Amino acid sequence: MRKYIVGNWKMNGMSADLTEIAAIASVSAKYASVESALCLPATLIGRAVSAVEGYIIGGQDCHMNASGAHTGCVSAAMLADAGARLTIVGHSERRADEHESDADIRAKALAAKAAGLEVIICVGETLEQRDDGKALEIVLGQLAQSLPDAASGDWLSVAYEPVWAIGTGRIPEDKDVADMHREIRAQLTTRFGPAGAAIRILYGGSMNGENAAMLLSIPDVDGGLVGGASLTASKFEPIFAAAAKSAE
Ligand code: 13P
Repeated sequence: MRKYIVGNWKMNGMSADLTEIAAIASVSAKYASVESALCLPATLIGRAVSAVEGYIIGGQDCHMNASGAHTGCVSAAMLADAGARLTIVGHSERRADEHESDADIRAKALAAKAAGLEVIICVGETLEQRDDGKALEIVLGQLAQSLPDAASGDWLSVAYEPVWAIGTGRIPEDKDVADMHREIRAQLTTRFGPAGAAIRILYGGSMNGENAAMLLSIPDVDGGLVGGASLTASKFEPIFAAAAKSAE
């Protein structure tokens, strides 16, 4: 499995940042053994796709319906129409801020698949849940409920993002990442068989140039979903480099 490194710009990015996006695309092209994409605000997708020539641009969410009276929302078909090739769904910031349920996320994943997009479904526990010893139960529950029955590695990836590691500079112990990814893999293969074995499991939460080599060397860590460190080519490149090295 090639390592998959995906940037998530969250609510960041203006027209002036299109040059940085182009710089990220050209830096990523140096690492042919790494697969990469950048998930942008919907407002930038169309222009970014034009600016990067072949680099994969994605969205960060989509509506579960194809069209209709949903003011302010963006459908998966609209993302695809703008040139996006994938979308994230179920990010913890949306689960928390927009009260998205596992059922919503499953419906969004299916809508995205129907529009021809690849999908990254996010799961992850809060600090309170981890301190209560419930991390595994929470994450495996989200996984069971958020993934549709049609899941397979050719269109779906999972991102394990411990909520308390996002944007904090803190990462879990490597043993805890290993345990979680092993359990996620076990559920995927039990439920989906060989199709589940091919679903990539990304780690997300304060991944950066210093810790990427360690995180990407953990078994069943098939890539990274990167927030802050994906905002500039200079911060993102060391993660591509670590991913390329881990594939040697
Ligand atoms: P940070 O890399 O900024 O911690 O964000 C991770 C994340 O939420 C990616 O989706």
